[in-house]
Amino acid sequence: MSASVSFSTRITDLLGIDCPIVLAGMGRGATTPDLVAAVSNAGGFGILGVSGAPVDLLLEHIARIRSLTDQPFGVNWVVSPCAGATRDTRRLLEITNRYRADIGLDPMDAIPEEPDLDISAKVEAALAAGVPLLSFGLGDPAPHVDAAHAAGARVMTMVATVDEAVAAADAGSDIIVAQGYEAGGHRSNFDYVSMDETPAIGTLALVPQVVDAVDVPVLAAGGIMDGRGLMAAIALGADGVLMGTRFLTATESGIFPAYRQAVIAATETSAWLCDAPTGRPARSIRNRLTGDLGQASLPFPWQSSVLDDIYAWAWESNDPDLFPLWAGQGAGLAKREQPAAEIIDEIIREAVGIRERLGAGAAARA
Ligand SMILES: Cc1cc2nc3c(=O)[nH]c(=O)nc-3n(C[C@H](O)[C@H](O)[C@H](O)COP(=O)(O)O)c2cc1C
Repeated sequence: MSASVSFSTRITDLLGIDCPIVLAGMGRGATTPDLVAAVSNAGGFGILGVSGAPVDLLLEHIARIRSLTDQPFGVNWVVSPCAGATRDTRRLLEITNRYRADIGLDPMDAIPEEPDLDISAKVEAALAAGVPLLSFGLGDPAPHVDAAHAAGARVMTMVATVDEAVAAADAGSDIIVAQGYEAGGHRSNFDYVSMDETPAIGTLALVPQVVDAVDVPVLAAGGIMDGRGLMAAIALGADGVLMGTRFLTATESGIFPAYRQAVIAATETSAWLCDAPTGRPARSIRNRLTGDLGQASLPFPWQSSVLDDIYAWAWESNDPDLFPLWAGQGAGLAKREQPAAEIIDEIIREAVGIRERLGAGAAARA
């Protein structure tokens, strides 16, 4: 199956797809293999968030996607170095142990070891399995570009400034994702020092400046939820869009029911930026967790190793208070649960309608 109305751009030609809609790879289970396959089957391009997944699970997910679609898809890792400041870790243990006592988990006595961030074996496994596109967020893709190209795979890099876009293109990225401040999940800056020092450029301002600075195709990301957003991105010079929040409410998404309800109930003011859940700024719907923790105590992603058991419990227990409910400023436009294919069809129909209206307006004025 593919989109009933086609919409071609440089990105559809490059990726061999029907419409310029890319599903953002979203870690911690939001993008399931079923969602990735549904997006690719509907004429878009599905990306699986695999940060944190060991090689055997990664290969299992790739096999599942392949059993559901013969269309192309990608996998995504965040590649940030362990970045940020170390502050009051005693307070972090105190707060999280209070949660543990409330929900019946064993207390944590000491901060775990710094996590191992080397993904080279995972990248190698994905390439050996023939994955056609590797996507990277939150850091420099350079260490993985040659291996990807040698295996015939494309590289997509998400950036949040023009300098990062130029660096990512110079490193050999085939596609740049320009991620604006509106976006759900982590800010995709390469470096991280503090919340205050992190550049915060909106999608409307960032996309045309990135388009002007690089020659490779650009996807716009951040706050894009419907056909209006797709057409705005195209008007800014982008070749397509990468969307996360809108697909959280897809039937095939993996988030737990109370998280999905929180996205559906969200307004434009519900999601805020906070570095406490993982150690780097990320946009999530305000809840008890983000309110209590305040500021991160450990660098990214070390901070989350003090919270992972609580997150796993919240996910299993359908508890929206103790899990970071990542979502973007556009969440108020996600109104109901729908199959991914319907979401894509709706976006493309709306975009084509706008294109025709604008064309008719221009012809009438000529
Ligand atoms: C729930 C969620 C999880 C995310 N996880 C990742 C991730 O693992 N890797 C990544 O590169 N980006 C991740 N992102 C950010 C997306 O790649 C993308 O920039 C963002 O969703 C675009 O903005 P939008 O949510 O307004 O569509 C995530 C976003 C959300 C909402």
